[in-house]
Parts: sequence; structure tokens; C-alpha cells
Amino acid sequence: MVINARITGTGSCVPSRVVSNHDLAKILNTSDEWIYQRSGIRERRHVDAGVAPSDLGAEAALKAIDAANLKPGDIDLLLVTTLSSEHTFPGTAAFIQRKLNLGTIPALDLRAQCSGFLYGLATARAFINSSQYRRVLLVSVEVQSRGLDFSDRGRDTAVLFGDGAGAVVIEQSSDVERGIMAVNLHSEGEHAEKLWVEYPSMAQSPHVSPEIVAEGGVFPKMDGKFVFKHAVSRLPEVVEETLNQLHLKSRDIDWWLFHQANLRINEHVAGLLNLPLAQCPSNIDRYGNCSSASIPILLDELVREGRVSSGQLLGMAAFGSGFTWGGAIVRW
Ligand code: COA
Repeated sequence: MVINARITGTGSCVPSRVVSNHDLAKILNTSDEWIYQRSGIRERRHVDAGVAPSDLGAEAALKAIDAANLKPGDIDLLLVTTLSSEHTFPGTAAFIQRKLNLGTIPALDLRAQCSGFLYGLATARAFINSSQYRRVLLVSVEVQSRGLDFSDRGRDTAVLFGDGAGAVVIEQSSDVERGIMAVNLHSEGEHAEKLWVEYPSMAQSPHVSPEIVAEGGVFPKMDGKFVFKHAVSRLPEVVEETLNQLHLKSRDIDWWLFHQANLRINEHVAGLLNLPLAQCPSNIDRYGNCSSASIPILLDELVREGRVSSGQLLGMAAFGSGFTWGGAIVRW
């Protein structure tokens, strides 16, 4: 029997609180015009007090499980991708597992930042293809608003990131026509410090201190132009690699789901690859950059709007801190 890994359900959850560029301009030296022109973002969602990453993740997961016509007890592996973990340890997967009453199935976090969903897809597919697990729940969740620097010092990153969660159920299937057809992953640790949060750091003593906090060492630091330059070269590269692997052309793909880091990056990439923008849906204007949750939230929106039909080909690509990047092609 040919074993295939197929996405059978999607779900997402974003906080209800909308924070517009105008709201940020009241607390930061920024403007709607500056943010929108450079990133395509108009607003993002921020969690309210008392809401944890695992709350968003569990809600997205329940929707995905329901869409797959399953019950939580049917899942046999939980994978969680996040760069905004609920605690240093255990991983956020432990908290989502508890909220979903997933018993004693394995639950683990994968850390690949904005490429996390694609790393998760590859990991789920490998476990399914080896027949070790048959029904994998992949949850990508980010609560970034609590870790951003909302002073002028952090304005280059604080305006870009948002909170949200997306989830998929991936099942073993003997349907050879449909499923995750290819996933390619890459990373380049040489550029780790170009987009990172340095502290708390187990490489440093003290690993964090009041002085480090006061100096902003616990907030993200980014060399925006450097990240932009690498993203617009690595994304087309991995798209071509994935298309070539399956002997496909870009015109064969029905929908392109790119990581929602910056609309300008995606427009640039679409231009280089000659992709019609109408086939590159975007929600960055509403949610900002939700890191690993961006692609699964976008996927869930497309699916629930009835825009993806059976047999269509979906191309996905992401780039992020690490650097990490990846591409995937899925037959729906
Ligand atoms: N509002 C207003 N001004 C801001 C600002 C903000 N939120 N953030 C930074 N600035 C200022 C800077 O201080 C700088 O001022 P200076 O020239 O006086 O020093 C100036 O704006 C820089 O502007 P510009 O050169 O136009 O910035 P940019 O073209 O590099 O755009 C980014 C900045 C962050 C939008 C862009 O580099 C980017 O999108 N990079 C990729 C980021 C990304 O995708 N990260 C996530 C990857 S997963």
C-alpha cells in the first residue's frame, strides 16, 4: 500500500482585539503610512490579559479536529511550532495537550521560527510515511505582543508582529492522488543574530538581569534590510527547488501561500517567479506577521471561504529567523 500524508482538517484562532496602525501611532513614533507602505500591514491582533498561547492553539486545534471529522482522542501525535513559547520549559505542546485532553500521546515543540509550519509539515509527513503515527495534529501558535518593545527603540519590530494560531490535522491515507507531495527545508545559522531575541540566554551569565531587561535585551532585534534581501532570494530558490522536484511549473499551482512577513517581500517574490498576485492570497493587512502561524491561518481562511477545491495544487513557502526557510507543494 502506498502511504500518503494528507491534510484532512484546518482551523485557526486569532484574538478579538484589533490593534490598528493608528493605535500604535498613539504610543510610538510611527504612522499608518510608514507601516503600510513598507509592509502592507494595517492592523494586527493582540491577546487580552489572561489569554495564553495554549488557549489560541487549543481553539485552532479543536476546529481542525472537527473539520477532519475526528475527536481529540483520535490524534496520536501532537506537534507545536512556536517562537513565543508559553514558558521556557516545558514546551507549549504540553499545555495544549492538557487543554485538549490528549492523554499520553507524544507532544513536542519544534523551533524553526517563521518557517515552523513547514518544518512541522515535513516532520508530520515523515512520521506518517514511516507508519509510526497515523493522525498528527500540527498547531502553529504565536503570542508575540507580550514580547515586543512598544517604545521608540523597538518600533521597527513592534509594528510588524501579531498574535494568532493555525492548526491542521494530517492523516495517513492511501489516496495517492492527494496529499503533501514535497517539502524542502533549509537553514543557515550563520545569520542567527540578524533576527533574534538574545535574552534570557543560557550562553550568558547572568542569563538575564534587571539591567539586561532595562536595556531591551529581552526584545527582538532585527537587521530589517538584511532579512529582506535574504528572504527575496531564498524564497524563489526554494519554490523552484520544490517545483523542479515534482517536474511542475509555477503555472501548475493554483494557490501560493507565502509566509505573511511583509507584503512587499511577497510581491517581489511573485514578480521574480511571474506568479499572478490573484493566486497569492494575503491577510497580512489584518493580522501582521504571525510567524509560524501565518501560513496555517491563511490556509484555513482559504478553505473555509470555499476557495480551495479538491485536486488543486497549493504551493507554500516561508522564510524566517535562524535563518530558516522552506517550501512545500500539497495536492488538496
Ligand atoms: N515607524 C516610523 N519609522 C520607523 C519605524 C516605524 N515603525 N521603524 C523604523 N523606522 C525608521 C528607522 O529608524 C529609520 O530611520 P533613520 O533613517 O532616521 O535611521 C528608517 O525608519 C528606516 O526606514 P527604511 O530605510 O525605509 O526602512 P526599510 O526600508 O528597511 O523598512 C522594514 C524597514 C522593517 C519594513 C524592512 O526592512 C523589512 O520589512 N524587512 C524584513 C522584515 C521581515 O520580514 N522580518 C520578518 C521575517 S520573518
